[in-house]
Amino acid sequence: GADVEVDISGIEPGQLVRVMWRSKPVWIVRRTPEILEELGTHEDKLKDPNSEAEQQPTFAQNRFRSMKEEYLILVGICTHLGCSPQHLKDGAFEEVVEGVPDGFFCPCHGSKFDMAGRVFQNVPAPLNLVVPPYQFVDDNTVIIG
Ligand code: FES
Repeated sequence: GADVEVDISGIEPGQLVRVMWRSKPVWIVRRTPEILEELGTHEDKLKDPNSEAEQQPTFAQNRFRSMKEEYLILVGICTHLGCSPQHLKDGAFEEVVEGVPDGFFCPCHGSKFDMAGRVFQNVPAPLNLVVPPYQFVDDNTVIIG
C-alpha cells in the first residue's frame, strides 16, 4: 500500500532522515536527551505548546509530540504556504530564536518551529507541523501511514 516502512537503526543522535510518504516529505529525527530537555524551556514563546488547535494524533498533544520521545516524526511541510523548513542544529537555530539551539526555520516567510515541530509566536505559520500516523513494528522499524 501507500505505507512506508523505515529502518531507523542507523539514525545517529541528532540526525534527521527524510523519507517520502504519499508524495510528502516526512522527517524522522533522533532527538538527544539535551534536545528533549530543552523542549521544556521555551514554551512561553510558542503559539500552541500542547497542539490543541488542530486534529493531531492523541499522542502528539503534549511537549514531545511523538510515540517514543527519542524519535520525532513530522510531515516536513510548513503550515503556512507549504514550503520546506530547514533543520538548523547544534546552535545554528540560536540566530533564529535566542537561547534555542535546534529547530526548523522556513525560509519563505520566516516561520520557526522547535524540535517537536511546535510553531513559535509572531510568525505567519498558524499551526504546529503535522504529525503523520505511524507505528513502531519493533525497536528498529517504523511504518509511516
Ligand atoms: Fe513557511 Fe510561509 S511557507 S513561512
